[in-house]
Amino acid sequence: MTPLIVGNWKMNLSFGEAMLLAQRYSSLAQKYKATNIVILAPAAYLHPIFDELRVRPNNLFLGIQNFMSEIEGPYTGENSLTQVKRVCRFALAGHSERREKFGETDESVNDKIKLALKEGFEVIVCVGEKNRYHLEDYYQSEAKKMRENGAILDQTKKALQGVSKSDLDHIHIAYEPIWAIGTENAASGPYAAAVCYIIKQYLVELYQDAGNTVGVLYGGSTDSKNTREFLMQPSVSGLLVGSSSLKAGEFSKICEICAEVKSGRIV
Ligand code: PGA
Repeated sequence: MTPLIVGNWKMNLSFGEAMLLAQRYSSLAQKYKATNIVILAPAAYLHPIFDELRVRPNNLFLGIQNFMSEIEGPYTGENSLTQVKRVCRFALAGHSERREKFGETDESVNDKIKLALKEGFEVIVCVGEKNRYHLEDYYQSEAKKMRENGAILDQTKKALQGVSKSDLDHIHIAYEPIWAIGTENAASGPYAAAVCYIIKQYLVELYQDAGNTVGVLYGGSTDSKNTREFLMQPSVSGLLVGSSSLKAGEFSKICEICAEVKSGRIV
């Protein structure tokens, strides 16, 4: 599975900064050809970045952070997928900041995912828990808890309602513990590996063998220091990077480590 490193810029960067950083990402993609790199830029920058990076390496993609579950209509201030289709290959759905601050529900996330698949996007679906699990001591019972209403496996099931086996090729799950996002308090490698593994098993339960084809990313306070710990876990196929994606040096080290670890040169 090709590793995927996604930079979630959120609502940051001036126009000039974004253009410069996009150039840096482009050079990184050129250098690390065996890694797919995605820029989740603010919506207003997507077209300018695309036009600026005319000659783009084919492993560099743009993605939209949020979009409406309709393609057009009276939705003041919303982003339409068809309006960014020319420049974006990826779409993010269900980020915890959207769920918490903008009232997105499992149902609205599911609607968005189905539309994005219909429109031909690669979809990154975010799931995550509010409070840390105690997997070290109570693995089985905690794994069972993940099926409860609102917990991560339930979020996964509801997000994928109506998503067929053949659509799975275009689905990526981003496991992002809410307690780790923006806190400098990332999960440990083994913790992330355990949850990603449980998610993968669950996908197999839902979709049989086809579930194995879905990549599961980890996100939440990733940086160049902890990247290796996550990427050396076989159940973690990439990272969704927030604040470290805004720093060219940090992001570059993350991509370098990804290339090393996932090529099997250093584990
Ligand atoms: P963070 O954000 O890396 O700053 O914790 C991750 C995310 O919210 O996607």
